[in-house]
Amino acid sequence: MANVDSGCDKPTIDRIHRATAVEQLLPEGVVAFELRGSASPEDLFPSERECVAAAVERRVREFAAGRLCARAGLVALGLGPAPLLTGCDRAPLWPMNISGSISHTENYCVAVVGREAQFAAIGVDVERIAEVSPALWPLTMRGEELSRLLNREESTRQQTAALIYSAKEAFYKCQYSLTSKWLGFEDVLVSVAGDAFEVSVIAPSHPLHYMLSPWVGRFRVQGDFIVTGIAAEHCNTRGIHRAPSAGGEDLPAAPFEPLHRLRG
Ligand SMILES: CC(C)(COP(=O)(O)OP(=O)(O)OC[C@H]1O[C@@H](n2cnc3c(N)ncnc32)[C@H](O)[C@@H]1OP(=O)(O)O)[C@@H](O)C(=O)NCCC(=O)NCCS
Repeated sequence: MANVDSGCDKPTIDRIHRATAVEQLLPEGVVAFELRGSASPEDLFPSERECVAAAVERRVREFAAGRLCARAGLVALGLGPAPLLTGCDRAPLWPMNISGSISHTENYCVAVVGREAQFAAIGVDVERIAEVSPALWPLTMRGEELSRLLNREESTRQQTAALIYSAKEAFYKCQYSLTSKWLGFEDVLVSVAGDAFEVSVIAPSHPLHYMLSPWVGRFRVQGDFIVTGIAAEHCNTRGIHRAPSAGGEDLPAAPFEPLHRLRG
């Protein structure tokens, strides 16, 4: 499956590395792999190519990068290489007993995976800091988030805005695996505390409304982009059923730890 990516003399597979810095953002047990640069469509299984058959080349390359990183993670967890298809909601159809998440931005991709027995859901997100421009702030932040942001030193605002945005995207992916529900940017509240962030669901109609709050995630600045990670460990089934996975299983009942065990 290793193919030489155009513009790079190394096969894609040789450019995929264990992303230990991203693993540090998440509880022990999560495995992360990253790719710098793009991947080749040739790296995809035929059934994966079908998922992006109508997409432009850039999107196919981005999709391939995510699949290769996810595949490396699944292999590290002891699974054989297999197609990772996409549901009609765009979420990846993770193998039975696996939770995971993928994010890509220009020339960087990361995928995180863990065993479903430990992780009900995982969310990861990467954003170019400069891309979360001030014009986006009022569209993606609640009033209190924006007020807190504007009270910060001006020099730190751009990075904090990108963090809030990315935290919401990572949380969105994590919560979607549990609920299959849409959440808007105004439906959650993000607070920043050191190298961690907290997320609370404000939307009254959402199944996670103030449930298990605050959710705690971590972030890291890597050059000109920011990476956020959040995970739900040992979710209970009282009111929360994980969306069916590729294997169609619901979560086993287990106690939930709202303050996730984080490393360090
Ligand atoms: C799905 C979404 C979160 C993706 O974020 P993004 O920054 O645009 O793109 P990223 O590269 O970080 O992530 C894309 C990957 O997310 C994954 N993804 C897509 N939809 C998903 C979903 N519903 N649930 C979980 N993961 C999903 C896919 O793996 C996708 O990559 P792939 O198509 O190559 O497999 C975003 O497009 C979206 O629809 N957001 C909904 C509104 C929102 O963000 N609300 C925030 C408040 S909580």
